[in-house]
Amino acid sequence: MSETVLLVGGGGREHAIARALAPDCSLYAVAGNRNPGIVEVAEGFESIDSTDAEAIREYAEDIDATLAIVGPESGLQAGVADELDAAGIYTFGPRAEEARIETDKAFQRRFMQDNDIPGCPVFETFDDIAAACEYIDDSEMDLAVKPVGLTGGKGVKVIGDQVTREEAKAYLRDSEYDQVVLEERLIGEEFTIQAFVADGDLRTTPAVQDHKRAYEGDEGPNTGGMGSYSDAGFQLPFMNDGDYEAAVDIMEQTVAAMPDYKGVLYGQFMLTTDGPRVVEFNARFGDPEAMNTLPILDTPFIDVLTAARDGDDLPELAFSGEATVCKYAVPDGYPTDPDAGAEIAVNEETVGDGLLFYASVDARDDGLYTTTSRSFAVVGLADSIAGAEELAEDALSAAGDEFRIRHDIGKADLVQSRIDHMNDLRGE
Ligand code: AMP
Ligand code: GLY
Repeated sequence: MSETVLLVGGGGREHAIARALAPDCSLYAVAGNRNPGIVEVAEGFESIDSTDAEAIREYAEDIDATLAIVGPESGLQAGVADELDAAGIYTFGPRAEEARIETDKAFQRRFMQDNDIPGCPVFETFDDIAAACEYIDDSEMDLAVKPVGLTGGKGVKVIGDQVTREEAKAYLRDSEYDQVVLEERLIGEEFTIQAFVADGDLRTTPAVQDHKRAYEGDEGPNTGGMGSYSDAGFQLPFMNDGDYEAAVDIMEQTVAAMPDYKGVLYGQFMLTTDGPRVVEFNARFGDPEAMNTLPILDTPFIDVLTAARDGDDLPELAFSGEATVCKYAVPDGYPTDPDAGAEIAVNEETVGDGLLFYASVDARDDGLYTTTSRSFAVVGLADSIAGAEELAEDALSAAGDEFRIRHDIGKADLVQSRIDHMNDLRGE
C-alpha cells in the first residue's frame, strides 16, 4: 500500500525531508510559508501555521494521511504530534511531553542528572533572575547562560566567549526570561549526531558540524546556522576514534530513559578533552544539518517511518559514503537587521551538480524574493569535504551580492583550524 504522508513545516530542513520522502509516497505538506521546493514535490499543500495542531489534524484527516512528520520544534511544543497521534495518524516526532528534552532546558539537564546519563555539564537551574546573577558573581568558572525555553538558537550567551560576567548579568536583567540554566562553559569543538528513534531503537547518522556565527571566521552574532559539513565516514576530521561511539552511547542511554520517544533525536555535543559533553538535545532534525544527512541516506526514509509506526525494528541505515557541504544564503544584514525583498536568481538550472533547498522565500508572480530569514541553501556531495565544498560554491555562482554567505564553511583552512584547535587542547 502506498503511504500518504503529511509533512509539517516549510524551511530548508523540511524541503530536505520532502525531497527524501516524495519519490516513495503521496506527500502532502502544511506550513505558514509557501516553500516552492516543497510545493513542487508535494501532491497537495495547505497554508497552515506549523503550530496550529487542530487545523493540521483536520487537513491530515481530509487527505487520509497514514503517517506524519513534524519538522520544526515549535510544532512539537504546540502538541501537533499529540493531536495527530490521538486521531490515529502516527507521527514521527515526539509528543509535547517528550519534546521537553528540547523545549525545556532545565528539564533536559535534570533529566540527564536524574538518570545518570553521562556527558552532562555542571549546571544549576534558576527561576529567579536575581539569584542567577548572584550565582554568576560567586562562581569561579566561566558559565553558559541559557534561557530554558526555545530561542531559535539565539538565546544562549557564553561568558568568556561572547560576553563578560557583567554583560551576562545585564542580559538577564534586561530580558523577559524568568527561568534560566547556568552551566559550566564547555571548551572544544561542536558536532551534531541525528538519530532515528522509535520503541527504544536508535539508528544514527554521520556527525555534522554546523556554523552558528553569522560571519566568516566565526565572528558575529549567533544564527540558526549558516552552513554545515560532514565527512565521507561517520566522524569529522577533528574527532578521534571512539569519540563518535561515546556520543552515541550518551544518546542510547537517553533513549533508554525515555521509552516513549519517537522521531529524530538530535544530539549537540562539545568534544572536550574529556570526551563528548551534551550542549543540548533537539527533538527534530537540525536545520541545516538535515540537508547534509538526508541526501546521503540510501535507505528509503519512508521505510524508517513505516517501521516506527508498525512497531518493527528500524531498518539498518545505508549511506552513500559521500562528504557533504551545505551553505546558506541569507539576506544582507541577517540576523540583526535583515534586508528583505531581494530577488533570488538561483534555481535548479543554475546550481549545476549541487542540490538546492529553499527556506524562507517570498514567491511572487514575477519570481522569488528574500524575507528576513535564511533564504536558501545549496549542498555539494563528493568523495571529500574539499570536493563537496567546490560543488557548493559552483552552485552559488548565480547568487548575487545581495546575499551573505559564509564562503569559509567547508574550506580547507577552516576545517584544518578545527583539527588544530582540538590538537592544541589535547596537547598534541
Ligand atoms: P543551544 O541553544 O543550547 O544550542 O546553544 C547555542 C550555542 O551556545 C551552542 O551551539 C554552543 O555554541 C553554545 N553553548 C551552549 N551551551 C554551552 C556550554 N555549556 N558551553 C559552551 N558553549 C555553549
Ligand atoms: N542547526 C541548529 C539547529 O537546528 O538547532
